[in-house]
Amino acid sequence: MKPQPDVRGATVVGTGMCVPEGVITNFDLERMVDTSDEWIRERTGIRERRIVAPGEASSDLAVVASRRALEMARLEPTDVDQIILATTTPDRFLPSCACTVQQKLGASRAAAYDMFAACTGFVFGLGLARSLIGSGMADTVLLIGVETLTRIVDFKDRNTCVLFGDGAGAAVIRPCEPGQGVLSIDMHSDGDLGDVLEIPAGGSALPASEATVRDRQHFISMRGKKLFPFAVRSMEESLRTALADAGLGPHDLDLVIPHQANRRILDAVRERLGVPEHKMVVNIERYGNTSSASIPISLDETVRAGKLGPGDRLGLAAFGGGATWGASVMRWTMARLTPSAAQVAAPGAQPRMAGTSSPS
Ligand code: ACO
Repeated sequence: MKPQPDVRGATVVGTGMCVPEGVITNFDLERMVDTSDEWIRERTGIRERRIVAPGEASSDLAVVASRRALEMARLEPTDVDQIILATTTPDRFLPSCACTVQQKLGASRAAAYDMFAACTGFVFGLGLARSLIGSGMADTVLLIGVETLTRIVDFKDRNTCVLFGDGAGAAVIRPCEPGQGVLSIDMHSDGDLGDVLEIPAGGSALPASEATVRDRQHFISMRGKKLFPFAVRSMEESLRTALADAGLGPHDLDLVIPHQANRRILDAVRERLGVPEHKMVVNIERYGNTSSASIPISLDETVRAGKLGPGDRLGLAAFGGGATWGASVMRWTMARLTPSAAQVAAPGAQPRMAGTSSPS
């Protein structure tokens, strides 16, 4: 979607994140499945990932991340017009996780709903937020990406359990001058690839039963080898399209925040785009793949580290189950945060939830 000169723009005015305190290292996984720290680091770039404690749910992480984003934006929960919550792991299927977050936050004026677009959810949500603001339907949108993937990962399956982790990120989006903020959005889906990454049971096609539980069909199943080249190609092509729509090229970007799927996928995308290493944000080593939360977590860490300032051009790119993929190019409008300002914006600079647990 190209920029429309007459339509008011939409920009990020606050970010926040929250990861649970519990950590699973590669060495912990060595004790659960036939794997090794060396294999995981070499093939994925991951050293550790976060895990929620018993009783913690996606909405708990989302609320902390949202409060931090609203604090940075100097807004109250009651200022929010719409909450878009991207997730694959809602607290429950009914009500939506967004409604639970709305209630816990006290965002009583907001229309709240979930977006199921897997790892691309934050980028798709950004496209929706931009359209809501551009059309005048909303002035303040709270966009959240949250996952508790350790709840749907089979800790007996080494193909998946080494990859995924828990966390939440949020962004507050408000109107701005045309030509600022979100410059372009590129969004795609291909249902033909639906079985490459799926949770087979628990929905209307295969409702939960003793057999589905026995056959471990409520966990993520993934054909990683098939996803790999698709991931590289789709993120590169989508970011190139978003850049072209914004009248820019890869060399114009000051920073790229990709969905943190696998270090080797990110390196391949970066090399194909010709982006230098220092311009790509990578934190997969600490969090693993947190699906829809990975971009907003990375964004908040980047903002609070003072690495984004007014006029900087930022590229986002993601792919995920569905299949879905997309990208966005933004011209950053927020003042650069100094470490002390980041402290003021988010007391206790490293957001953490209390409690630890081990998977069953
Ligand atoms: N430890 C040790 N060995 C393993 C492990 C493990 N954890 N997992 C797989 N292996 C084995 C395989 O069984 C295979 O053994 P075999 O040759 O005897 O059959 C061998 O390692 C090589 O397997 P490959 O599949 O070739 O390994 P690859 O280099 O492709 O890495 C990986 C696997 C990490 C899954 C990679 O394909 C990948 O990252 N794909 C993309 C996955 C992805 O991004 N998923 C999420 C996308 S969407 C979303 O984010 C929700």
